[in-house]
Order: sequence, then structure tokens, then C-alpha cells
Amino acid sequence: MTLRTADGPFRFHAIWLRDNAMDESTRDPTNGQKLITLRDIPKDIKLDSAIIEGSEILCTFSPENKVIRYPLDWLLNHAYDSKQESDAIKTEADKILWDKNLESTVPNYKISDLENNTNSLRKWLFDVYRYGFAKVSGMSGIPGEIFRIVDLFGYVRETNYGRHFEVRTEVNPVNLAYTGLALQAHTDNPYRDPVPTLQILSCIENSVEGGESMVVDGHKVAMDIYNEDPQGFSCLAKFPARFSYSGSKKVSLNAKKPVIELSTDNELICVRFNSRSTAPLIDVPFKSMEKYYCAYRRFADLVDKNQNQVTFKLKSGEAFIVDNTRVLHSRKAYSGAGKRWLQGCYADKDSLLSKLRILENKDVGSKI
Ligand code: FE2
Repeated sequence: MTLRTADGPFRFHAIWLRDNAMDESTRDPTNGQKLITLRDIPKDIKLDSAIIEGSEILCTFSPENKVIRYPLDWLLNHAYDSKQESDAIKTEADKILWDKNLESTVPNYKISDLENNTNSLRKWLFDVYRYGFAKVSGMSGIPGEIFRIVDLFGYVRETNYGRHFEVRTEVNPVNLAYTGLALQAHTDNPYRDPVPTLQILSCIENSVEGGESMVVDGHKVAMDIYNEDPQGFSCLAKFPARFSYSGSKKVSLNAKKPVIELSTDNELICVRFNSRSTAPLIDVPFKSMEKYYCAYRRFADLVDKNQNQVTFKLKSGEAFIVDNTRVLHSRKAYSGAGKRWLQGCYADKDSLLSKLRILENKDVGSKI
């Protein structure tokens, strides 16, 4: 079937139309789940006729002799005819890549607004989606408030570090995060598969000298490498890296995943960068190792470049959330009198995006 519109002709296969029928015997009208399997669709399915009636199109299929109605706007929203196979790397259309210039306009919302105003919550969730990063302010700075942020959209992802973890200086720390040392910007827990896709850090106290937080858009860094050195980019995307952690007893975490992960249609979906957790690279062929290291070093240089870094000092009662598949975070070294105490926890993007879709009234097939 071909739908001709001002935007061009859109072709649909009979099997696709039948498989996506919306009648009550194909999809449950209550929960929207499909009631048939491919086996229920005849192999010789054909579209006998297609007639437009107002805002719908009536399709008759043989050999079932089944008539299905499709809203025209639904068909146009789900048209696939213009999709081309392409090797070009892309990021999701609504995502905004950023650098230091974001520093003066960091998305920052008051927790009371997020908890009481659905429109503010929708905007904040959309900012987390499109920037991969946003701040929350206006909390009292008491321990445990971090869960107010997760409660806005979903659930804590518990790990061996607990339901939440304390980020403050410790004697004999199990992780370098619990020292006063500066940390290179990184994504958290690349040694897990899957990685936690969101991280939240909430400030209880930050009266030390230094200790600023810093974030870097890893997808922007990856796209910079793609634009200046496609072969190097390809090395980081094609060959698996290895990440591991066994800093405390009874924990031995390992993952074999690339530094830059692409979807099957070449969309940038995840970066993993954490020098503290990198294990020996054993999956890069000998002839590609030098090229790999060259691109890997360039990735690190771009992460460390001041122009790519957004820096801010969290005050008591403030927090930030990052998309851990995209945004790297770090903190500057700190010392002297005073105390730096943050609480952190992980959560996942699926529930955040679900909440956003509900508030935006989006179709389940939409990209967000
Ligand atoms: Fe971290």
C-alpha cells in the first residue's frame, strides 16, 4: 500500500500492516499488548483493498478476509519508507551536545517544585534526557534526602556499595572516590553489565577548600573524535575494552564492553570511561593496538580539556543527576579544614523516560 502525501509517498507492506493491526482480536484494548504471534498471520497475507474513510483507512486482508481500520495520522507517524541504511554516526535528535558554555545555564530545579508541580517535573525530566545532566536544589541537607530525587521518577538500583553510598574521606577506602584526591572525569561502574544508567549525588556538607564537582558530555567528546578521526572512533567502538573491580571482599565484577557503544543503526548509546577500573585490553588485535591507544588518549585529552568541562560547587541541600551512559563526572581535589560529605545512589533511565513519556503524553513507539 502507498500513502501519497505532500511529504512524499509512504509504502507499507501487507505483513507489517497486519502485524500492527489495532483491532480487539490483535491487541488487548486494556493493556495494549499483542494477542497474536507471527504464526497467526498467514504466510501468503495480501492486502486486497485500502479505502480512505475520513481520518481512517480501511484495509482488507486475504486470505483471512479481515478488515482493519488504521488512523491515517498513526500510519504517517509510524512510516518507515524514508529510512535509509547509513553508516553515518548520529545521536538522538532531541539530545543537545554541550561544553563549558552550559555552565551559566545549568538546568537547576527546586525539589519543592519537582514534587508539587507536574509541569516543572516534566521540564526537569526532559532536561535530564536532552542534556544528560541537571541539578536539584532547595533540600535541607539532611542525610537520606537523595531518595526524594529518585522517588520523582522511579527506583534505586542497589549495588554492592549499598542502596546508597557515602562519598567522604575514609581511612583504607575500598574505592578512591572515598579520598580527597582529585578524580579524572569518568562514568561510574563500567565493570557492571548493564551499567547503572543514572547516578545521583546529593550534598550534605561541603565546607572544604576545593571539592568542586565537574561534568563532561561524553557523547560530545565521542562525536568530536568521530569528526576529527573516524578511524580512531571506529577502534573505540569496534573493539571491546575490559573493566574490572574487586576492591572489596567477595566482589569480582568484570565487563567486556567498548568505550564507545553504538546501536545497530549507528546511534551513539553509551560511553564508558574510567581509568581506575580499566583492565588489560585483550580484545584489540595487535595491528590495531597503537591506533586504539591513540584514539583512547585523544578521548582522555578531550575529557580533560577545560572547554569541555562544566564546573560547580555543590552546597548543602543541592544535588545533581547524570545519565551515566553519557555524562562523565568528577570532583576536584580538596583539603584543609571542613568536611565534604556527599551521598550517592544509582537508578535507571527506563523509569525516568517512562515518567517523561507519561507526562508528555507520548506514544509508546516514540523515541523519547
Ligand atoms: Fe564516580
